[in-house]
Amino acid sequence: MENKRVVSGINPSGSSLHIGNYFGAIKHQIGLQEKMETYYFVADLHALTTVKDKETLQENIKNVVLDYLALGLNPDRCVFFRQSDVPQHSQMAVVLGNYVTYSHMKRMHAFKDKLQKGENEESINMGLFNYPILMAADILLYKPDGVPVGEDQRQHVEIARDIADSFNKAYKKEVLVLPEPMISTETGKIIGTDGTRKMSKSLGNVIEIFADEEIIKKQIMGCFTDPNRLKATDPGTVEGNPVFVFHDLFNEDKAEVEDLKNRYREGRVGDVEVKEKLFAAHQRYFEAAKKKREELTRNPELVQKILRDGANKAIKLASATINEVYETVGIVN
Ligand code: TYM
Repeated sequence: MENKRVVSGINPSGSSLHIGNYFGAIKHQIGLQEKMETYYFVADLHALTTVKDKETLQENIKNVVLDYLALGLNPDRCVFFRQSDVPQHSQMAVVLGNYVTYSHMKRMHAFKDKLQKGENEESINMGLFNYPILMAADILLYKPDGVPVGEDQRQHVEIARDIADSFNKAYKKEVLVLPEPMISTETGKIIGTDGTRKMSKSLGNVIEIFADEEIIKKQIMGCFTDPNRLKATDPGTVEGNPVFVFHDLFNEDKAEVEDLKNRYREGRVGDVEVKEKLFAAHQRYFEAAKKKREELTRNPELVQKILRDGANKAIKLASATINEVYETVGIVN
């Protein structure tokens, strides 16, 4: 095992995970468990920026915990916990806010995107504006070498580095570690079913992983394909076509994928067949994870125990860092 550490999280702002989460980040995170010290968590405090209903939030957290575990987290190898179970995240965020400027924060995507989507400053809550500071706290508490995430989180990892750097410079001491973003060039940005934008729950262009079959089927059958191909007998384009992007991601029957691509290029296959095969591939690919999820659902005590053990381990490291940070700034009782 390399002597390296990584940390990453998922925001339970939605009720379940999608294939963008999986191929963009989770699959990579799972692979790292065998090689490095891994800290993964459900960023429940982050979800407050958008979820303002108690039952919905509790349901989302429960689902995302189950999804994440079922997809292959191994609690014997990784430290898995809920952000809110480790109070040092909130403590660290209060400190770190002092090492980043308002103008830098105003340049952050999540905030700017909201403004572009027509929201005005009056409707943007401070939790959303401060999101990158809490995220920097999530990361820097564990002094990780890297942060495995999708491309959309690059800017957040970069600001965490900037904050760590300005903290260290202020005290002329290498207290915080500047971590590297670990983003896959091939799968760092998974396209949505609309074929244009990044797959994202809030854009409604997702293919979920554990939703009911009927929902997943609908998501797949509604997927955009080659907009220039009007009939099944027209030759079509495979490159960049979302249905084929998805086939390449999770249809492990490569001969079938090649056959479909060839026939598509030659105008010898209809969209419906391509999508039905994609749906079947989805069912096969996630079958084991679905079974695992059902087992975990039947065993809530085990899930509670995993989270408790994870939080205890995370607190050890997080409290050592916060003590060092308090000591550095002069907050010593
Ligand atoms: P979140 O919950 O939106 O997404 C979880 C992970 O999935 C990745 N992802 C994608 N990757 C490729 N293509 C896509 N279409 C796609 N959609 C989502 C995200 O990049 C992410 O890696 N702010 C974070 C959660 C967080 C965090 C942290 C992450 C909170 N604290 C500390 C790392 C470290 C978020 O909202 O991710």
